[in-house]
Amino acid sequence: MRIYEKLLAHKDEIKQTHLRKLFQDDPERFNRFHAEFNHFLLDYSKNNITQKTMDLLFELARESGLKEAINDMFEGKKINTSENRAVLHTALRNRDNHPIYVDGQDVMPEINRVLQQMKTFSTQVRTGKWRGATGKRIKNVVNIGIGGSDLGPAMASDALAFYRIDTINFHFVSNIDGTDITETLKKCNPETTLFIISSKTFTTQETITNALTAREWLVNTLGSEAVSKHFVAVSTNTKAVSEFGINPENMFVFWDFVGGRYSLWGAIGLSLMIGIGYRNFIEMLEGAFAMDNHFKNTPFEQNLPVILGLLGIWYTTYLGAETYAVLPYDQYLRKLPLYLQQLDMESNGKHAKKDGHFVDYPTGPILFGEAGTNGQHSFYQLIHQGTHLIPTDFIAPIHSLNETGQQHDILLANFVAQPEALMRGKTADEVRAEGVPENLVPFKTFEGNRPSNTILIDKMTPWTFGALIALYEHKIFVQGVIWNVDSFDQFGVELGKQLAKNILPELLDKNKEISHDSSTNALIERIRKSRSELKRIK
Ligand code: F6P
Repeated sequence: MRIYEKLLAHKDEIKQTHLRKLFQDDPERFNRFHAEFNHFLLDYSKNNITQKTMDLLFELARESGLKEAINDMFEGKKINTSENRAVLHTALRNRDNHPIYVDGQDVMPEINRVLQQMKTFSTQVRTGKWRGATGKRIKNVVNIGIGGSDLGPAMASDALAFYRIDTINFHFVSNIDGTDITETLKKCNPETTLFIISSKTFTTQETITNALTAREWLVNTLGSEAVSKHFVAVSTNTKAVSEFGINPENMFVFWDFVGGRYSLWGAIGLSLMIGIGYRNFIEMLEGAFAMDNHFKNTPFEQNLPVILGLLGIWYTTYLGAETYAVLPYDQYLRKLPLYLQQLDMESNGKHAKKDGHFVDYPTGPILFGEAGTNGQHSFYQLIHQGTHLIPTDFIAPIHSLNETGQQHDILLANFVAQPEALMRGKTADEVRAEGVPENLVPFKTFEGNRPSNTILIDKMTPWTFGALIALYEHKIFVQGVIWNVDSFDQFGVELGKQLAKNILPELLDKNKEISHDSSTNALIERIRKSRSELKRIK
């Protein structure tokens, strides 16, 4: 029997067994199903698994060539096959600086050069050596970018806000909705504002449009000579950067072998480095590097990203889960679910296998989440009593950076209680024993048997943060290998972009003929009419 069939057959055994019973039958269950790495504890005992499940999943990983795939990635092989690119965000945090070759060339000297350039620049901005055109210190840094050129630095800037310099405010503009840039500029003064235009391609419509608005805002007050003191760029596209009017000396490069959603570790992290300083940034890279080595060198049975990845495969492919929730019990990590939505769904939301055939099994899950305990007061109802299977990751630091009052103890109590409640539930008899009237018993019953992972981290530091993000990157990698998809392209975002390009001139010219479906035509006509009336009124 092939491993796929073995897992399918095993699924029926598991479906009949309540987690509560698995815990009752085996007092060693936690010991059996937890793994530790450095400042991390992963408790995966509250999953719908037995030892047999895990053994089969590890077999699946081996049969899928996971070990070889991991080595190929770290060695710079062109595993992004649809784009014929290496995948080397790990090189950006290669802290022992061993050579890594792409097309016969060691990429490390270039990576180190850019890191030094970032160090010099960020130090100048932080210390006030870098001044605006009128000689004033920088007080606002505005990163303009979208997707991977926004979510990584925006999420990390929040996550590490405790370590951030307090004389500079950080803003992240991404949306093409003019409200985003307008509301941000209201908070800034041109003389003290630095814009970082972050775009791998430097052709992204949202980013370039917002950057042009920012430049106009600045030039209106300070004149065009001021641009060089207030605009820098992060990109792979030197030509487009200089065409935009940014001096290539003020450009920080990265490379094709770094995917947008994996780019936080290099120049896209410039705003973060200005915020937390070079040393903390390096500490973050060290944490990610440690996780890289753990992923590369640890047997699958103790390997955190491998275990998490396989559990996700178990639920999505075999148990029919369509969603997956990430629930950080840490206010600093409140943007983590947003960040992981891109990382996971843009990577594994694929329907074609690497060989070009369509898959006949589900791939990447729909990811959502919210910081605890806020989520408890909104969508947890559905996780506890709804009809969907929703695997969850609970993440919390044991020690808070802000030990005020009793908040952190209460937070942790909730963090521990929720997975317990999901696992054990509450039977109708238990509800009755509380004296609940019979007519209310069904409403107060909890089925339980709902899976979760618990990730405990000692404390949120740049190191643990770096390791945590690398953990999720590698988890997603594991799943991509097993689903046999290219986790590093994103052609699925193209069609909508192309259609928007065609529709824009149709919105602007009310006489232009349109020939879409009846719904799209009607929407275009309604917008045209309403906007042309508005223009007449104005
Ligand atoms: O919309 C898809 C995408 O290509 C993302 O993968 C990327 O992070 C984002 O757009 C931004 O692209 P760029 O950095 O080239 O502006």
